[in-house]
This record gives sequence, structure tokens and C-alpha cells, in this order.
Amino acid sequence: MNKQRVTTATFREMKLAKKPITMLTAYDYPVAKMLDACGIDAVLVGDSVGNVVLGYDSTVPVTMDEMVHHVKAVSRAVKRAMVVADMPFLSYHISNEKSLENAGSLMQEAGAQALKLEGGQEICETVRIMVNAGIPVMGHLGLTPQSVHQMGGYRVQGKDEKAAKKLLLDAQALVDAGVFSIVLECVPTPLAKMITEKVEVATIGIGAGPYCDGQVLVTHDMLGLYGGQPPKFVKKFADLHQNIIDAIKAYRVEVQAGDFPTPDYGFNMSQDVLEKLNK
Ligand code: KIV
Repeated sequence: MNKQRVTTATFREMKLAKKPITMLTAYDYPVAKMLDACGIDAVLVGDSVGNVVLGYDSTVPVTMDEMVHHVKAVSRAVKRAMVVADMPFLSYHISNEKSLENAGSLMQEAGAQALKLEGGQEICETVRIMVNAGIPVMGHLGLTPQSVHQMGGYRVQGKDEKAAKKLLLDAQALVDAGVFSIVLECVPTPLAKMITEKVEVATIGIGAGPYCDGQVLVTHDMLGLYGGQPPKFVKKFADLHQNIIDAIKAYRVEVQAGDFPTPDYGFNMSQDVLEKLNK
């Protein structure tokens, strides 16, 4: 594995070389460290932290302070991958000054190397301002979870002609505004292929088929950390939920039965000291 830090130039080179880019989410130090050790190209501190770790029912409640906290932990762990941080709901809509200030917190204070913003033509002015300030921006089109209440649920986007044409225009507008990459979430495979072929920047798909320049999944989903059925586009590469439940139950049973800890898990002290204590 090449140990050099992954940058926007790496994304460009990988797209040109048709070498698939790998991205997964992390919200804490140990998982981020494992992703980096396994050669994942980009670690996304997604605002999915809201659903996956913080117990919110959408990404809307996630705050800047929460993002900074998690990005800091991930940045401390990652040496090679690009750390991409989501700008949370409304953190890039209030004013240009506020957007730049928030971007500064995620990059200067927390250590992200790039920021991801949801939206198309309507956010291009903000993207331009950030790119002009030297911030690498990743776009996010299709199903944009921060707009779940406007979209009326988590649905595949761009299925009819009007919506598909808008996605094509949005993708080009983001490229013109200076993004170095675009996440395509829950977009029909042929449309994601068309966008990928049209734009000069790397597309990263999630529920967007195999023709994107890279793929991203929420790590907790692909590890099967939660019981139940994940979304259709998630492949479970492990079933950690069952493994963890089994381990926790085994611990409870052993402690209750007095089988744990055995002497092997304890520490001894010299007989001499013990005798003095007993006097
Ligand atoms: O927040 C997130 O994890 C994301 C991915 C689903 C792309 O935006």
C-alpha cells in the first residue's frame, strides 16, 4: 500500500486511471485507525453520526460542536486517508461569513482535509467562496439526508426526466464551482454512470451502482452492527451485532456464575507485604 497521504490530486489520478476510490465513515479513533490501516482512501466523518452513534432519528439535529468533537477523534487516528467532514444542517446557509467560520472549525480546529456539502446549484456560491479560500469541497447529490423533511422520506432520486436533468445540471454546476468530487446517493445506476462519464471530478456512489469512480458506505451498516435489515444498497460484510450480543451475554453469564475473573486475570502481591498488613 502506498503510504502517501491521499489528496484531491489522488482522487483525480484515480479517476483517470479508473482505479476505484474507497471511502467509509468513521466517527471515533479506533474505527478510523482500522480504516486507515486497511488502506481505505477516504474516511468520511459523516453527519450520519447523528443516526448511527448519537441516536437521533435524522441528521438534522447534528450540531457543529458534535461534528468538531468527532472529526478531532478521527483526525488523530488517520495518517494516510483523506479525512472528509460533513458540514451539518444549516452550518453553510446562514451567511458566507458563518459558512467560512464553520468550515474553519472543521479544518483548523478539528483537522479535516476536505468538507462535504449537500446540494446542487443552490449552494454553488458557497462552494465557490470555500474553494477560493483554499478548502477542498466534496459535493453530495441525489438523496441528501439533510433535506429529508423536504424530500418526504429517504427515496431514490432522479428517476423521472425532470429530476434526472436537474441532477445532471447540478453535477456540472458543482464542478464549475470547484468541487473535487461528488457523492451520488440513491441515484439510478444508469444516471450515476452518465454523470460519472460527464464530469471531470470523481463521483463516489452509495446506492448508485458500480459505475461511479468510488464507493462509500456507512461503516456501521456494512459491519452489520445493528440487527435488522439495512437499506437495499448496503452489503453486510460482517454480522457484528450478533457477535457483540453473544460476547455481552457470555460476560454476564460468567460474572454471575463466578467464572470470571479467574486468577489469570488478576494481580498478585508479595507474601511479605500481605503478612505485614495482617499484623
Ligand atoms: O453522512 C454520511 O454518512 C454520508 C454518506 C451516507 C455519504 O453522507
